Amino acid sequence: MKNNWVSENPFVFIIFGATGDLTKRKLIPAIYALAFADLLPGNMRILAIGRRDYTSESFQNMMEEAVKKYSQRSFQKIVWERIKNVITYIKFDFISDTGGYIRLKQYLNNLSDDGIYNHLFFLAVAPNLFAPIVIQLQNNNLLSEGSGWKRVMIEKPFGENLEKAAILNNLLTSALPEERIYRIDHYLGKEMFQNILTLRFSNSIFEPLWNRFYIDHVQISIPETIGVGRRGSYYDRTGVLKDMVQNHMFQLLSIIAMEPPVKLNADYIKNEKIRVMRALRPFPDNLSEKEIVLGQYTGNIAGSKTVPGYLQEENVASNSKTPTFAALKLWIDNYRWQGVPFYLLTGKHLNRKNAEIVIQFKEPPGRRLYGEYCNAKSNILVFRIQPYEGFYFQLNAKKPGNYYEMIQANMDYCQTTAYQNNSPEAYERLIIEAIRGDNSFFTSWDVLNASWYYIEDLEKKISKNSLPVYQYPAGSVGPKAAIKLIENDGRSWWDIHDSINFCTRRSDINENLRHQHGNKK
Ligand code: BG6
Repeated sequence: MKNNWVSENPFVFIIFGATGDLTKRKLIPAIYALAFADLLPGNMRILAIGRRDYTSESFQNMMEEAVKKYSQRSFQKIVWERIKNVITYIKFDFISDTGGYIRLKQYLNNLSDDGIYNHLFFLAVAPNLFAPIVIQLQNNNLLSEGSGWKRVMIEKPFGENLEKAAILNNLLTSALPEERIYRIDHYLGKEMFQNILTLRFSNSIFEPLWNRFYIDHVQISIPETIGVGRRGSYYDRTGVLKDMVQNHMFQLLSIIAMEPPVKLNADYIKNEKIRVMRALRPFPDNLSEKEIVLGQYTGNIAGSKTVPGYLQEENVASNSKTPTFAALKLWIDNYRWQGVPFYLLTGKHLNRKNAEIVIQFKEPPGRRLYGEYCNAKSNILVFRIQPYEGFYFQLNAKKPGNYYEMIQANMDYCQTTAYQNNSPEAYERLIIEAIRGDNSFFTSWDVLNASWYYIEDLEKKISKNSLPVYQYPAGSVGPKAAIKLIENDGRSWWDIHDSINFCTRRSDINENLRHQHGNKK
């Protein structure tokens, strides 16, 4: 069924930085997927702006290849033609070519004459270009809403540090109001991220248990199998804490820990998230490996391939101390979470790729009741965000038989299998929300401000205490000290040993079946 709000909103999607990787890998495939699902208005237009030499035709051809390569949906010529025919490419330099903005304005004015007034600007450019582009848009009167809406989507990273982020934010908010700014953190567009809200607040079994009385600890992990690849110059200035923890991991943390919002809308959700960020306990001045362990990958041989170490990556300083791995323990000082540790783990070139949140409940009093036969384990609830979506709940049960044995019964809901991998990609969802004018799943300045502040304070304490950056071989579980960080507390990382299970197997079976039937998705 077609959503009216989309079909009634003809708009121009204006991409700055259209020849970059993001446009190829994510944006145009997302637009294609929306067309595939018949979620785009008939008379939308795409204006691709870049600094390289393309004609509209050569750009369309490049995008066709990108859709074939990166889209999750099968390639259907008829769907692609709909997109292709509305793409126009124009070339100009975003900083030096002020005439380019005049051409842009002329193009948009012509479309207004055809009744297309709404403009969605997407800045898929390096962070240092955000401000100059917004200033030019404002100077050319391209952000005022005489007729139709004007919205701006901004890729992460939002600034490189707190100071630059604040300057950028002042500039943006002087050019357009907060509700028209869509700061992207693509984790917020992931299907399971959005499902966490539903699972937490639409099931009455959870809320009474969601606190320090019943929960032993929480783990949030996003291990990755890739290295920094060609992003060395960005990554070496950024490091894992700013690249992953300050944004994606803090978003997951805040949605898991927040109080139920009065309504599930942007303002209420953002207010609750900021309250979590403000309750984060600052790290102690004498920071140690009890609170944080950092690592950097070294080269390794994976099958027949040699994986370069971080220091051998392109554009990385040969003596760089930038961490590519972090394991941390955080505390949230509020009534709900006092005394419950939150363990975070993320890193490049690890032995697995996933994103999961584990809620481990307190140990049951089973030992008393069942004596030597007791093998009762803590109940565990796992939100699987990727690659397989779903959730998993571990209970204790009796094994059928004439003697007593306790086993763990696993209830594993594999959304990937149940819905045949049909979840929208994060960018599809985010573009749709921006067209709808709902920025619930975008980051607010308050949350960004608090998270930058927290991470910068942490980095100062890391350098003051000269914490080591351990080396770990690419393809491993990470530095041993990270395992100790949690084991010293009598706990263990969940996904290092346990993540391959039912959901993975079911999805693989499904995937195989699809391949046998020659069906991409
Ligand atoms: C990006 C980071 O924001 O997120 C990358 O800059 C990281 O370093 C990526 O690899 C992870 O995203 P996903 O969706 O693959 O988990």
